[in-house]
Amino acid sequence: MTSLADKQTWSAEKYAANARFVADMAGEISSWLAPAPGMRILDVGCGDGALTRRIADTGANVVGIDSSPELLERARALGLDVREVSVTQMTFDNEFDAIFSNAVLHWVNEPDLAIARMRAALKSSGRLVAEFGGHGNIASIVTAMRAVARSHGVDESLASPWFYPTPDEYRAKLEPSGFKVERIGLFPRLTPLPTGMHGWLDTFRATFFAAFGDRAEEARRSVEDLLRPSLCDRAGNWTADYVRLRVEAVAV
Ligand code: BEZ
Repeated sequence: MTSLADKQTWSAEKYAANARFVADMAGEISSWLAPAPGMRILDVGCGDGALTRRIADTGANVVGIDSSPELLERARALGLDVREVSVTQMTFDNEFDAIFSNAVLHWVNEPDLAIARMRAALKSSGRLVAEFGGHGNIASIVTAMRAVARSHGVDESLASPWFYPTPDEYRAKLEPSGFKVERIGLFPRLTPLPTGMHGWLDTFRATFFAAFGDRAEEARRSVEDLLRPSLCDRAGNWTADYVRLRVEAVAV
């Protein structure tokens, strides 16, 4: 998982326990990719390789990249060809028929550089097929974290280090950079959280709570209390208000 936006680190155990849904809910964008035997595909932000393995099982020739050595170790154990490099630092040149990326590009705080590197990695007519957080993603979670930061005198910008563009904003980055957008849109996708808001905050926003020092646990409970009426049902099941930006663009 590429994490340039803050000092996010990834625990393979936490990721497997709290975020397996990330790969499990990628059916729609995987169908946009339509991998086929022999197709050379780059998986940007392959993480622990759960989804990369599924793509490779179609007979496609897949390379994964990620910045997390811990997650890459899991991916290698699945027999995958993966490399430790971020999307903004990769140097592939004219090599891939398609680039796939799921739930990663919102972590990258240099989107123009990422787009340039992805364009360079694609052959002419190669496709970029990506899904990531779009405008309005997890708005209520971010708002609750901001409110708690404000009330504790903590820098509230730490609540949301992510890049959540609108389709127009992302198209305006792709088209001058050598891509023709075939389809792009926002898709609200309520996302059940199998280990609740606690597991989600622990996996994805630990750096935010670290800023509260010895009041971290109190702050996390306050965020959960603010969110419970909107995102937790009467049976105790949590859902997150994800909004996905999906895009397919062709290298021209
Ligand atoms: C997302 O996939 O939208 C997401 C995941 C972790 C943190 C923030 C957003």
